[in-house]
Amino acid sequence: MLGYSLYSLGGVLLLLVVLYRLGYCVYLLWFHHLSKYPGPKLAAISEIWYVKTWISGEWPRKIYEAHRKYGDIVRIAPNELSFRTPQSFKDLYGPPSKTRKLFPKSERFYDMGTTNLALEMDPEEHAKQYKLFAPAFRTSALRSQEHVIQEHVDLLVSQIRRRGVSTGEALNMALWLEWLTFDIIGELTFGESFHAVKETRSHYWVTVLLGFNYGGSLVAMRHRLSILGPILRWAPVFSKAAEETTRGLEQHKKLTIEKTQKRIAMGPSHKTQDFFAHALQHGTEEEKELKKLSEQAMIFITAGAETNAHALGSTMWFLAHPDYAHCMKKLQDEVRGTFARYEDITGDRAAQLPYLQAVLDEALRMVPPAPAGPPRVSPGETVDGVYMPAGTYVSTDLWALHHDERNVERPWEFDPSRWLVAGEGEEGEAGTKRRQRPFTAPFSMGPRMCIGINLAWIEMRVALAKMVYAFDWEIEEGCPNWLTENKLYVLWKKPKLMIKLKDASGKGSSVG
Ligand code: HEM
Repeated sequence: MLGYSLYSLGGVLLLLVVLYRLGYCVYLLWFHHLSKYPGPKLAAISEIWYVKTWISGEWPRKIYEAHRKYGDIVRIAPNELSFRTPQSFKDLYGPPSKTRKLFPKSERFYDMGTTNLALEMDPEEHAKQYKLFAPAFRTSALRSQEHVIQEHVDLLVSQIRRRGVSTGEALNMALWLEWLTFDIIGELTFGESFHAVKETRSHYWVTVLLGFNYGGSLVAMRHRLSILGPILRWAPVFSKAAEETTRGLEQHKKLTIEKTQKRIAMGPSHKTQDFFAHALQHGTEEEKELKKLSEQAMIFITAGAETNAHALGSTMWFLAHPDYAHCMKKLQDEVRGTFARYEDITGDRAAQLPYLQAVLDEALRMVPPAPAGPPRVSPGETVDGVYMPAGTYVSTDLWALHHDERNVERPWEFDPSRWLVAGEGEEGEAGTKRRQRPFTAPFSMGPRMCIGINLAWIEMRVALAKMVYAFDWEIEEGCPNWLTENKLYVLWKKPKLMIKLKDASGKGSSVG
């Protein structure tokens, strides 16, 4: 009898839960303040659509499709919208003013259980950290860092000669560029390179970091699906792979602390004005705590190496593509026609090459290294003329914006010339239209814009100019497509980039 009552009580409770959930769905679909915005129905009633899309690695393409289907504003979760217009980007990420409030970073994306310059959500705390590290990214500091970039690029060029040119074998440039950018950032962060290019193999520290890419993507989702929290916590007990990842991460943390400790021991004015020089000299005792500095080191390396490696990789892929052979030719003519010697290539001089700049701008438009719209939370403010109540989660998707025909003509075509001023004498509507450059923001904008933007430009310009000067290259048959076969987790998972390189006839440098 008692069993029967408990059984029916359970049934009633279950029914109540189901009715409550149904009622809540009705509310979300028809009465919630975002119910007027279109989007997938599943996204309107639960976080499942968002999480499923995010962990599929296909986020940019799925959001792009959603915008094509539903328009400029899409509801991507019960309390979250994705935008696609240039004005929405400026409103969400641009600097606040007397008349406009700041949109802070969303805790549902940036709370990873640790803090650093990129993850800090409190604007005042972020401003303090920014002040401490900004001097390392100013022009004077960058000038003192350029020799690090030059030396590493020269080593790359000479190693490619040995391992690729002389053997005639295709090299996986995705890997080589990753080695290059991690070596550079390693030296600017820890005061010592990872020596991957020299030893032609990935450093353990980097392998663990990149291996965690997919796991990190799940961690970022635990605020959306509460079940993910316990799953992630208990996974190492039940899964050998998860246990190995956790062990790898612990070891990684230990190694990061050791490397930071070594950098601190070198003192503030170590060789170059690297990322820690100013902080070690002027930071408070609290700011100079080992744990805090090692957390900053992690973000400098994560944000500063993979992004540049991806940008250079996609640039090389486009230039090697047979459809864009004319772009490669134009760039070769510009670089080889400007510099009498390989050694003359500097960051300042490379910055004056309009076509080189246009090629990089176009590659960053086609495949931005950080393509997803960074989520923000509305303080109660308008976005592109539409009022967003406080607490609404919002973002502008960069991939959708960079490939929107209203912003860019022929958005899927790699065409660096769209970045150049229209030809002389081209008047009328055609001329005006071509002068309108697309709106792009691969480094974001406003107070949370990329702190490493100037360093990134020097690195990309010097590396690309020197590679173009030293080598001719072509893609190996069967090489994956960098526009369609890359997956996005926290960062892009780069496909292979199989390239055959030859010494540029009569234009080879004396390096190596
Ligand atoms: C092509 C290269 C790069 C691209 C496309 C890029 C892109 C971005 C973007 C879009 C953001 C904003 C992210 C957000 O709002 O969550 C960002 C932030 C950041 N980037 Fe970069 N980045 C690049 C290179 C670098 C380099 C070389 C460094 C050097 C350390 C760096 C360090 C950072 C840091 C520390 C932040 C956080 C800044 C803050 O919130 O104040 N990035 N980057």
